[in-house]
Amino acid sequence: MSYVEDATKLAGETSARGQLARSVRAFFAERLTRPFFMSPRDVGLFLRSARTDRAINRMRRQHGARAAFEAAYSATSDPWGSASLRYGYQRRKYDHIVALLPSRQFRKALDLGCGLGLLSQRLTARADETLGLDVADAAIKLARAYAKGVGRLTFAQGDVLDLPHELNGRFDLVVIADTLYYLSPLKNELLKMLACRVADLLAPGGICLIADHFFFSADIDSRTSRRIHDAFSWSPRFSVVSHHRKPFFLVTILEKRGLIDAIVNP
Ligand SMILES: C[S@@+](CC[C@H](N)C(=O)[O-])C[C@H]1O[C@@H](n2cnc3c(N)ncnc32)[C@H](O)[C@@H]1O
Repeated sequence: MSYVEDATKLAGETSARGQLARSVRAFFAERLTRPFFMSPRDVGLFLRSARTDRAINRMRRQHGARAAFEAAYSATSDPWGSASLRYGYQRRKYDHIVALLPSRQFRKALDLGCGLGLLSQRLTARADETLGLDVADAAIKLARAYAKGVGRLTFAQGDVLDLPHELNGRFDLVVIADTLYYLSPLKNELLKMLACRVADLLAPGGICLIADHFFFSADIDSRTSRRIHDAFSWSPRFSVVSHHRKPFFLVTILEKRGLIDAIVNP
């Protein structure tokens, strides 16, 4: 082998080895700098949320659901760590939800069980007008305070189980995140009725997105989430657009049926 051939081969090997080393470095740099989906703080948030939910269940048995959620927001102004910058989980959940929506611009969005309204705020980027409803007055007061200066966004007290009929057909997007599994008792008949009620709120072709906690079917709440998503998916009022499984929640996107729905439910 001539010196030139040798030098060329060596240069080729060096650049191949260099390329490999660069790839390995890039792989580890990306792994180390990529935010973990579940930080230790977020694990703490899950444990804290579970305590909040147990307290809500106890209070609900004695004083009813509305009082239980009012009490949760009085005990701590951020019961599920939605606004706190300490926790990343809820913010990532909101970002995923908005990113999964069909790419069109919506006219009027409804965020049912809006809590502190942080997801509602994000929906303003995708809808001309957004309304957030929550059963707890305390949540609505906080949501209004957080949304100060955000335009085209309103909040009102409202119960998923008792929505005024004046809202029917007014929305082309309804989002319900981590809310339905709080309804108790959550029988399949109630779920079927809720799917119909949500369909009533939508204009034909409108989109419903439901998102609920899901941890590998390991806990009872995950199994409840599965039942909720199945009930909405099997509702004759909707056709399924897509299902998504993220750590640690399920998202189902549905479209209100048009012509058939109009004939069956004039
Ligand atoms: C875990 S928080 C979720 C809040 C928000 N959707 C989010 O993802 O950040 C559940 C919320 O559902 C509300 N909620 C519970 N039952 C409700 C009902 N029957 N009607 C309306 N809101 C309800 C609670 O007050 C609470 O704010």
